[in-house]
Amino acid sequence: MPKILVIHGPNLNLLGKREPDVYGKLTLTQINALLRMKAKKLNFGLKIMQTNSESVIIELIQKAVGKFDGVVINPAAYTHYSYAIYDALLAVGLPAVEVHLSNIYAREPFRRKSVIAPACLKQIFGSGYKSYLEGLDFLSQYLRRKGT
Ligand code: DQA
Repeated sequence: MPKILVIHGPNLNLLGKREPDVYGKLTLTQINALLRMKAKKLNFGLKIMQTNSESVIIELIQKAVGKFDGVVINPAAYTHYSYAIYDALLAVGLPAVEVHLSNIYAREPFRRKSVIAPACLKQIFGSGYKSYLEGLDFLSQYLRRKGT
């Protein structure tokens, strides 16, 4: 059974209250419940972590080796400038999917660039919590095709 690690980056713990017009009304707990339902339905293992710290994200990625088969990550604001997270993903070589609730290409100019995307198989954005569900669908299918 493939095992996927979901990493939610900074400020995503505030979902539900945080700019609901941009990020939606669901809380992180509600979104996580939907992700767990998806994992159950598609029969893959799932661990979900949220942190506001770049260094914790890097440690989660480093420690994922050997424990997880792939990573779904919403790096939040780190998307736009964290070469350290990009390097961590390259270093471990785990298949990763970058997801965003909002359409980062239709917002402020600084959000239109992801420095993480080149280390990921795919970037999914703009569908609210469904971006995560799509990310899990994509990654679980990819892992199954690979025979994981
Ligand atoms: C985000 C987009 C980022 O620009 C922002 O800093 C976030 C959330 C999204 O999911 O739409 O915190 O990653």
